Amino acid sequence: MFERHLEEAAEVLAGARRVAVLTGAGISAESGVPTFRGKDGLWRKCKAESLATPEAFERDPALVWEWYDWRRSLIAPVEPNAGHRVLAGWEGLFGDFAVITQNVDGLHAKAGSRDIVELHGNIWKLRCTREGTVEEIRDTPLPRIPPICPSCGSLFRPHIVWFGESLDPVVLDRAYRISETCQVMFVIGTSSVVQPAATLPLAASRAGAKIIEVNIEPTPLTPQADYFFPGKAGEVLPALDRRLREKRPAAGIDRLPDRRS
Ligand code: OAD
Repeated sequence: MFERHLEEAAEVLAGARRVAVLTGAGISAESGVPTFRGKDGLWRKCKAESLATPEAFERDPALVWEWYDWRRSLIAPVEPNAGHRVLAGWEGLFGDFAVITQNVDGLHAKAGSRDIVELHGNIWKLRCTREGTVEEIRDTPLPRIPPICPSCGSLFRPHIVWFGESLDPVVLDRAYRISETCQVMFVIGTSSVVQPAATLPLAASRAGAKIIEVNIEPTPLTPQADYFFPGKAGEVLPALDRRLREKRPAAGIDRLPDRRS
């Protein structure tokens, strides 16, 4: 069954020109980055509302920054895994290919993906609370906690979307456009419970895209998915990649024109 579905999904993929991917914490789990929900999830150990909200930052910016600096120190030495690498390799295979991620760890970029929509921000970026300017600072531990904007002396905050905040409308708009125009959408390693990200595959499906889900367990999206691969992203994606590349010459994917050019 699994093998037959892999073959079918590779066939669907081989015939597609516009492919989108939505990823969540599960794709980075095999690299050693903790997920949010589930047995060892971050939200089991820390209270989201005491750390990842504007109110928490207002109350105690140093505490919030210590938590983010701890997460930065966990992620800093981490390498992308086979799942990230397959997605980076697919970027050259299709006319349009974009990764929409809920992850803030920067691992898709580290693996070599270039067209990445970061829905929830990026843990390596800091944003001035007064001027709104964004700077990438990779030092961890940070030299000063809480960090201060060098140009105006105001507090920097993590460039991350907190609970109770809206996503950047420009970023969200692009994510919807990609979802509504793709022919195939992969949904990888997300519990599909956080909005608005969880709506993107539904929008893609409504617009006619095939939905291929990869997760170690079923999610609320699974009943709507055309294919569900129960397994680790770092194992399922390379298996699919092998089959896709066998079909590639016949499908002639690399001869298709790039819609962006
Ligand atoms: P979750 O922690 O909610 O879900 C991770 C998902 O990955 C689960 O469905 C797991 O079953 C699955 N999973 C774990 N290991 C896997 C593996 N090796 N291969 C495939 N799947 C695997 O993470 P997200 O859905 O990303 O937001 O959470 C969404 C948002 O909630 C996060 O971006 C974060 C959080 O609050 C912010 O911080 C703004």
